[in-house]
Amino acid sequence: MKPVFTIILAAGHGTRMKSRLPKVFHLMGGKTLIEHVTNLACSVKSKKTVLVVPQKQDHFKKVFGSKSRFHFAVQKQQLGTGHALQAGLSGVTGAQGTVLVLNSDTPLVRGESIRQLLRWHQAGQNAVSFLTAHVKNPGSFGRITRHRDGQVSGIVEVKDASGDQIKINEINVGNYCFDLAFLKNSIRRLKSQNKQGEFYLTDLVAMAVAEDLPVQTHEIQDVRESLGVNTQSDLKIVNEAFYARQQEKFMADGVSIIGDAVFIDADVKIASGTHIESPCYLKGNTRLGEDVKIEMGCVIQSSRVASGVRIRAHSYLDEAVIAKDCLIGPFAHLRPGTVLMTGAKIGNFVETKKTRLGEGSKINHLSYIGDAVVGKKTNIGAGTITCNYDGYNKFKTVLGDGVFIGSDTQLVAPVKIGSGAFVGAGTTVTQDVSANSLAISRTPQKEIKNWARKKRQN
Ligand code: UD1
Ligand code: CA
Repeated sequence: MKPVFTIILAAGHGTRMKSRLPKVFHLMGGKTLIEHVTNLACSVKSKKTVLVVPQKQDHFKKVFGSKSRFHFAVQKQQLGTGHALQAGLSGVTGAQGTVLVLNSDTPLVRGESIRQLLRWHQAGQNAVSFLTAHVKNPGSFGRITRHRDGQVSGIVEVKDASGDQIKINEINVGNYCFDLAFLKNSIRRLKSQNKQGEFYLTDLVAMAVAEDLPVQTHEIQDVRESLGVNTQSDLKIVNEAFYARQQEKFMADGVSIIGDAVFIDADVKIASGTHIESPCYLKGNTRLGEDVKIEMGCVIQSSRVASGVRIRAHSYLDEAVIAKDCLIGPFAHLRPGTVLMTGAKIGNFVETKKTRLGEGSKINHLSYIGDAVVGKKTNIGAGTITCNYDGYNKFKTVLGDGVFIGSDTQLVAPVKIGSGAFVGAGTTVTQDVSANSLAISRTPQKEIKNWARKKRQN
């Protein structure tokens, strides 16, 4: 087997996206397009992977870090895909080999399709091999032209195509294999005499055909793989296809999905037996255990949810860690650093942040609990607020096991309440409370007889 070098073309800004963000940093399934393509590249054994990037690399550095495992080749000016490929080739040493070229705006192509393309290319000892697809709406894709005998003759870009060529519905997906020697030889001969004044890498196909070298196309069967992103509306379409693919994958693994609008991001993992109602959005590196039930309207961002947990409608979890059999919501907001131990309960209109709630403890109604550690079987009554912030610093609230906090309590941090203590409703707790004591701060109630009647008579 000849060595494989992979070149990913990612230097274009993507002006048709009409966004300040370069195209390849837009998201599909919560992950940048370029990461989908680098992942694809990683599914192939390459000797080296070269990313063709523009001069300004801030976004690339943010995503890949400054010590990336990929080699960056800079394309100073965006003069077309042929020019970009030439820049990428500068990072490829050696005379023999296969160059796998990937556009970075067709993020749905599967590893299997690329590996197959490589196998075909190497088995046929081709000069060029590339992926095509038959689609209903060929849009702005390059069209595949063929001789009468069906042999490929070239790729025509839409802007240069004749009326008849525009009607061709076999398109160039944007993933190619080249023989390294052929590529090095031919790329210098590309010309930019076309409607866009660009160097087209696609012209290499006609060059190989003219030299009578073997050129082969490989047609993708699932046309959804060929969807490309040039505009925001393309991005919407690839996301729809991606999320539909995710749903199929998880359903095949035993996850129940009720309704269409269940969005499961690329890095999410879900165990079988879990049930998700639409609409829901599972983001980041969220992990859901077995038999979790998620009702409609939930957003779960980078959280870990153990088996048997039930999350009722309209709850928002962000970087939360939930142990087995907890009950959350409806309308709960669990912010980063929330940890619920087994069987804990969070009810409606409760917000938590950096809070660890012990086994079987409950915060059932209308509360804000932040920067707190709560022991086991503690009950926090309705309307309890941790006053954790004095405008400058955050302070901690610590509650022991079996504590009972009456409704409408303010816990002015830093403060500690010992195990088994009671806090009477309406108390403002400003001092530590020892275990098994009662703390209560209330203005004694006054009653003024007939006050209301007199007021009405005035
Ligand atoms: C290209 C193909 C077209 C194919 C389509 C598939 C050419 C001439 N045409 O068209 O046949 O159907 O892809 O998606 O290749 N890039 C650079 N530097 C540049 C220009 C582009 O790195 O100077 C990169 C882009 O970042 C992108 C890729 O090359 O990842 C393709 O560029 P794009 O402008 O989207 O090409 P298309 O017009 O879509
Ligand atoms: Ca494109």
